[in-house]
Amino acid sequence: MTETRDRWHSRTSFIMAAIGSAVGLGNVWRFPYVAYSSGGGAFLIPYFVALFTAGIPMLILEMGIGQRIQKGAPLAFGAIRKPLQWFGWWAAGLSAGIVIYYSTILAWSWVYLWHSLTLPWGDKPEAFFVQNVLQRSTGPGELGWPVLSLVIGMAITWLSIYLILRKGVRNVSKVVMVTVPLPLLLLVILLIRGLTLPGAMDGIRFYLTPDFSKLTDIRIWLRAYGQIFFSLSLASGVMIGYGSYLGKKAEITNSAFITGLANCGTSFFAGFVVFSMLGYLAKVQGLPVADVTESGTGLAFVAFPTAISQLPALNSLFGLIFFVALLTLGIDSAFALQEAFTTGFYDKWHIPPQKLAAIFVLIAFPVSLLFVTKGGFYWFDIVDKWICDFGLVISGFIQCLAVGFLYPVQDFRDYLNAQSEIRIGRWWIWALRYITPAILLVILAGNLSKEITEGYAGYPRWATLVGGWGTLLFWLILGYLLWKRRNSSDHL
Ligand code: PHE
Repeated sequence: MTETRDRWHSRTSFIMAAIGSAVGLGNVWRFPYVAYSSGGGAFLIPYFVALFTAGIPMLILEMGIGQRIQKGAPLAFGAIRKPLQWFGWWAAGLSAGIVIYYSTILAWSWVYLWHSLTLPWGDKPEAFFVQNVLQRSTGPGELGWPVLSLVIGMAITWLSIYLILRKGVRNVSKVVMVTVPLPLLLLVILLIRGLTLPGAMDGIRFYLTPDFSKLTDIRIWLRAYGQIFFSLSLASGVMIGYGSYLGKKAEITNSAFITGLANCGTSFFAGFVVFSMLGYLAKVQGLPVADVTESGTGLAFVAFPTAISQLPALNSLFGLIFFVALLTLGIDSAFALQEAFTTGFYDKWHIPPQKLAAIFVLIAFPVSLLFVTKGGFYWFDIVDKWICDFGLVISGFIQCLAVGFLYPVQDFRDYLNAQSEIRIGRWWIWALRYITPAILLVILAGNLSKEITEGYAGYPRWATLVGGWGTLLFWLILGYLLWKRRNSSDHL
């Protein structure tokens, strides 16, 4: 039986989907904060160095390997060396792990979307987030029941993911035509509003004033690589899976450049939106900008809601715009992650996409409810930290060495150059073999020594052992079982 692999609608839809996966909450709530605390405008130097020496080379690797072998991460790595299939399942498993907690942020966003109609947080947005929305318990040991409103948010999130993935990549091609441009448009609207508010310029000055002395600090450089890495969705199997749906003659290198530059451009742009609003917030509250700045959940669910309710007019409208932007930013990262994992099952056991989407969601939805229990926030935080700071870094390290040394990489470069618009030079091989793995190793060593000496955020050891190391180990074991399970495709 000859089967035809699902295909992107067009080159544009592939690039849009890749951008959709890369551009996510990280661009809005992580980049601006990392930039301001790492030298402001001067941070753009290490950031773009990281983009060109590690980000784009790895994007080319991932899209290229998926496209050339025509398989998602597990079987693509298995084709390089048989035991690497185990690693491929592990990497794809990390993306399944991410989507299960990433969905939590979408669940919160649905709840805030609803609350935007009435803006009930008043002048206590932090208490509202912690007590009313999360109903947070005192620690990870006190789990409690799932919070009903968040369960509803979760259900809507998983239902959306199912409906989008059910018809495979063709449907994704259509969906990303909305979920990629729409949040950008909404951010432009927020930017126009932000820039016309008093104090906006103070915020932007705060964001961008360059501090070149920071560039001598090695940690700033590592932070730039870490940010690039997460932001481009690397090492999670996402770009390999997406690449595998490209046709045999598809262009790779220019698509990787476009994806990388679009992602970083969006991050830079999002900083203007965030800091113009924070500048205004500082002004109305009579505080310095540094005191209203927060990254992560605090920015999206505390600082922004405050700014929104302090706007002179149309507050609910701007609330809706902001949370719709978050939801559309997040959803295409979420379904890309799920697809990265389920593609492996299609490749190995030919399970149809429709069935895979349903089975995954039916398992993942109940598991994700752990993160919306009263103690769920703590587990969300731990799992996120371990998958990103340890899992993805280890995965990227192995991936670069596997392709750099075990795959005929010269030949791979010639192959890519023969069908691509931008010819890549020998620097690409250098980046994969030496630069990126060396940097990842230093990042990993730094993260590990910090974890061993200080622990993480004051959590008890048992919690980080179970939630952090336990999660990584779980995927390692499951990956082994999936690798060992036989099927006709195993000759690959
Ligand atoms: N790149 C996404 C963001 O910036 C997050 C992500 C990481 C998505 C890894 C997929 C894989 O939010």
